[in-house]
Amino acid sequence: MNPQAIDDLIRILPKAELHLHIEGSLEPEMMFRLAERNHIKLPYANVEALRAAYQFEDLQSFLDLYYSGASVLVTEQDFYDLTWAYCERAHADNVVHAEIFFDPQTHTARGIAFATVLDGISRALTDAHRKLGMTSRLIMCFLRHLSEEEGFATLETAFPYLKRLHGVGLDSGEKGNPPAKFARLFERCRALGLPAVAHAGEEGPASYIVDALDILQVKRIDHGVRCSEDPDLVHRLAHEKIPLTVCPLSNLKLNVVTRLDAHNLRDLLHAGVCVTVNSDDPAYFGGYMNDNLLACRVSLGLNDDDVVQIAMNSFEASWLRDDDKTRWQDEIGRIALEWENRQEAQ
Ligand code: HPA
Ligand code: ZN
Repeated sequence: MNPQAIDDLIRILPKAELHLHIEGSLEPEMMFRLAERNHIKLPYANVEALRAAYQFEDLQSFLDLYYSGASVLVTEQDFYDLTWAYCERAHADNVVHAEIFFDPQTHTARGIAFATVLDGISRALTDAHRKLGMTSRLIMCFLRHLSEEEGFATLETAFPYLKRLHGVGLDSGEKGNPPAKFARLFERCRALGLPAVAHAGEEGPASYIVDALDILQVKRIDHGVRCSEDPDLVHRLAHEKIPLTVCPLSNLKLNVVTRLDAHNLRDLLHAGVCVTVNSDDPAYFGGYMNDNLLACRVSLGLNDDDVVQIAMNSFEASWLRDDDKTRWQDEIGRIALEWENRQEAQ
């Protein structure tokens, strides 16, 4: 099989993105534009200097930059522009559905109203549906380096807006902040009918994945790549069809893996785990959806069946209605068959 031909397949398949922090889609150019608009002085001379600072040792060194970068987001229009830019960029990669994280605590701690954040993001997502046909879900993340009490306070603030949120997540520094720290908060979210996901097994141990499943009762695991350290857990993920939202270029940039060809994504896929591919914080990690898939195709030697399976999984793992999942999966099957016929004819 001609590898370039598989790259075409990657580009034309419809895909769902399930692990995307909207604040992580803030490109340096927009960071400078918004800083100027809001009269904020950035500690970098220009876009090039900022981009040059994107050399991370680990998750925390990235988070330090990511939180300070988010300080340029002030008005509803800023959150709109940020979200709209992501939707347009994802649409160019044939992402037809996105389940998007936002971190309200990063903004409310700076005195930005919860409604300002939510209104800007929601308005862009409504426009993305109307103008690009792109569907979405919104997931409110709690920052795990903060306390459970602060999480409860955020949930309280979000209370009038819960109808506009589709679920909750858990992100930020994983080490020393285990899922058990948020047991009561996630129990409350469940009682409110909010499904949950959590980052686990990115830098934290495999036991954090088990705890996210058993204590927080999450529907999906974000990252989860350290599951391989526990073969029983890999078996459980496959058997119970618990999806992983894997972010290969993120893992590379944050030294979760030393080289992309050492990534366990393909092994997990072949072990029957519902693996999906996502961009996490594309402005910081050097790529959007297709960049991640193309890099994995090159480094891991993904073939056409792998690529089709990953696209199918992205809808399987999504929170779309069953009939919409089936519709997209039928579409993937049709496009893949047409593509194969074209290859044979050449
Ligand atoms: N891990 C944890 N928290 C995050 C990440 C991540 O990869 N990206 C943005 N917040
Ligand atoms: Zn993430």
